[in-house]
Amino acid sequence: MSEPGRFGNVPFSAEDPSAPVEPYRIKVVEAIALLPPEARERALQRAGYNLFNLLSEEVFVDLLTDSGTSAMSDRQWAGLMLGDEAYAGSRNWVHFEATVRDLTGFPHVLPAHQGRAAEHLLLSELVRPGSIVPNNMHFDTTRAHVLHAGGRPLNLAIREAYDCDAPHPFKGNVDTDQLERLLRGPSAASVPLVMVTLTNNTGGGQPVSLENVRAVAGICRRYGKPLYFDMCRWAENAYFVRTREPGQSGRSVREIGRDFFDLADGATMSAKKDGLVNMGGFVATRDPTLAAKLKEQLILFEGFPTYGGLARRDLEAIAIGLREATDERYLEHRLGQVRFLSDLLRAAGIPQMLPAGGHAIYLDATRFLPHLKAEQLPGQALVVELYREGGVRSVEVGAIMFDEGETPSTPQLELVRLAIPRRVYTESHLRYVAEVVRRVWERRDRVRGVRMVEAPAHLRHFTARFAPDVV
Ligand code: F0G
Repeated sequence: MSEPGRFGNVPFSAEDPSAPVEPYRIKVVEAIALLPPEARERALQRAGYNLFNLLSEEVFVDLLTDSGTSAMSDRQWAGLMLGDEAYAGSRNWVHFEATVRDLTGFPHVLPAHQGRAAEHLLLSELVRPGSIVPNNMHFDTTRAHVLHAGGRPLNLAIREAYDCDAPHPFKGNVDTDQLERLLRGPSAASVPLVMVTLTNNTGGGQPVSLENVRAVAGICRRYGKPLYFDMCRWAENAYFVRTREPGQSGRSVREIGRDFFDLADGATMSAKKDGLVNMGGFVATRDPTLAAKLKEQLILFEGFPTYGGLARRDLEAIAIGLREATDERYLEHRLGQVRFLSDLLRAAGIPQMLPAGGHAIYLDATRFLPHLKAEQLPGQALVVELYREGGVRSVEVGAIMFDEGETPSTPQLELVRLAIPRRVYTESHLRYVAEVVRRVWERRDRVRGVRMVEAPAHLRHFTARFAPDVV
């Protein structure tokens, strides 16, 4: 799918018009090194073939997550020096609160140390045993918090979300017919809130259209249900809307973002994504009664409401980062980088979720390794192989991450995510990653499966251990 106005904001190389030139220069560097093959093999064994157990030093290009791995700007680093570490009423809190209010329009803002803490506050207040919480697709921590509160997470993404090849521009959209059926039906009273995740991380980092959210908000109003966004990647979502949705092309990301927020009652945010920081998050809401209750829990679990588990200088860095993340030049390069890697892989015929998402490439492990059965965990097998081949760390988004408690009718995607940290890697890193994936693709018939040998009950992908299949 071609984007109109391609690279209108950042220059590109005439030799390779698919490659956006980085709209930043490098002021501080961090050395990375590729371990020799035998050392990588030993590291895999020690880690129980779970890449969460690797040391960062054992990884060459780290695409495990885009969360908390951004490079901060010179302005953000300067902001840290403006930290006013007062327990109460710090000036950094004032700046942070004003920024979130200005960008979202939500009057009540509660800081938290990261996204899942925000989810804990909101969902433990609203969800009761037997509750049903619809979402386009729950991220793993959101889903775990719904389950933890005794509720049932329900994924209601459109059909195309489960089809890696469907050429839909907004594969993150909610199936509004299904949502309406749920809220008209006998289970309606069990729904305490409706959530929409911008962009849909679990389903390939795919955006949600403004038109779809308008329809969702209309349904929520009709049935008296509050609408909350998981707004981790809202600026990336808004940039997709600007480039893909009819009538939105001349508008700024902030204007588009405000149109989204005007339709909702509140949001949870992990600032580790579109806040361009290494730690932080918040809950924001229009509801003063709810805000007062959340504040009590905030003090109990996170800290006083003017710092919420963060150093005050962190709040300063978030306030600056939230605005930088809406800069169209930055976003054009960022989404252009993801598309650049996607195009390199597509040219090699490698199966992936298309079109490319906002923060990551999602390889289709089922089609990459068709000789492996589901119980041989093709996603994890591919994750292991990418590390073995070239020291690239990725993560499985499939059967291991999402097996328990899911709606039985939800089809299971078996994906491998290569998440791109913000402002960290350059074009040559991405070319290297594409080369590593291509080398595994060329010897894919010989890739063996893995089996799980140790698994905890919840969020098992973080700590499970695996062993290679014996043939
Ligand atoms: N919601 C979404 C959509 C996320 O992607 C994440 C985190 C969270 C909530 C939780 O935020 O980590 O700050 O507690 N996603 C990371 C990832 C971990 O790798 O996709 P958190």
